[in-house]
Amino acid sequence: MTTTTAVTNQKGGVGKTATTVNVGGALAEDGRSVLLVDLDPEGHLSGATSLAKATGDANLCRALIGTWEGSLADLITPHSRTEAGGRLDVIVSSLEMLYAVRELDKVRNRDHRLKRLLSAVDGVYDHVLIDCPPSLDILTDNALAAADGALIPVQAEDSSLEALKLLLPQVAAVDADLRDKPLHLHGLVVNLLRRPVTKLAESVIDVLKQYEDLPILGTVPLSVTVSEAWRYGRTVVDYAPDSEMAHTYRALAKVLEGAE
Ligand SMILES: Nc1ncnc2c1ncn2[C@@H]1O[C@H](COP(=O)(O)OP(=O)(O)OP(=O)(O)O)[C@@H](O)[C@H]1O
Ligand SMILES: [Mg+2]
Repeated sequence: MTTTTAVTNQKGGVGKTATTVNVGGALAEDGRSVLLVDLDPEGHLSGATSLAKATGDANLCRALIGTWEGSLADLITPHSRTEAGGRLDVIVSSLEMLYAVRELDKVRNRDHRLKRLLSAVDGVYDHVLIDCPPSLDILTDNALAAADGALIPVQAEDSSLEALKLLLPQVAAVDADLRDKPLHLHGLVVNLLRRPVTKLAESVIDVLKQYEDLPILGTVPLSVTVSEAWRYGRTVVDYAPDSEMAHTYRALAKVLEGAE
C-alpha cells in the first residue's frame, strides 16, 4: 500500500516545497521508498533536489492532460538512496506545466488525472508526497483528490490565518465533490519561525492551536541550514543530520508512517 500525502497551502512561500523534500528525506532515511511529485509549474522542488525540469515530450503536464501516454516510470528520476534501504525519487516539473491548468480544463475527468496517473505506482512506493502550487486551482484539486492525507505548512503570521480560512473550505468542497471519503488532515507545520519568537508570532500560534482536529505537528525555525541543503540539492536529514530541523522532519515523517 502506498500512502499519498499532499503538502498544500495556497499561500505562497510558507514552506510547502521545503516540507515535501525534507519529510521525504526523513522517510527515506527511515528505510521508506518515497516518490516526490513536483506539481508546481514553478518547479521549485525540482530545483531543491538539483534535478532539471523535463524538457522533452515525456513530462508531467502531458501525462496529466493525456497527450503523452508512456509509462509513469519514464517520468521518475532517482534522487538518492539511504543506508536503511530507503530511496527518494522525483517526478520533476516541466516548463509545459504552465499550460496544465488551462489544458486540464478541456479534458474529461480532469480532477482525477493525477490520481489515475499515480495508480501506476500504487504499492511500488511506501509514500508519495505531492508538492502543491501556491493556488487553489485544478492542480491542487488533483492533489487533494489523489491524496490520503495532507500536511499544511503555515507561517506564524496573520496572513496564514487568513489563508486557512480559504483552504479549509476548499478541502471540504473537494471532499464533497471529488472524494469517496474525507481527506485526512494530519495537521500544520509552522515553518520559517524567526527566533527569538515575537509576541505577534506567539499570538498567531495561540490561534492556530485552537483549530480542532488540526494539530501543530512541528515547528521549523528560519535557518540557513534549510536554505543550504536546498542549494546543494540535499535533504536536511542528510546535510545536517543532528540539527534541530532534522529532528523535526523526522518527527513529521513518523506522523506519516503512522498513516501507513
Ligand atoms: N525553515 C526554513 N529556513 C530558511 N529558509 C527556508 C525554510 N523553509 C523554507 N525556506 C526557504 O524559503 C523559501 C520558501 O520556502 P518554500 O519554497 O519551501 O515555500 P513554498 O510554500 O513551497 O513556496 P511556493 O508557494 O512559492 O511554492 C525558499 O527559498 C526556501 O528555501
Ligand atoms: Mg513550493
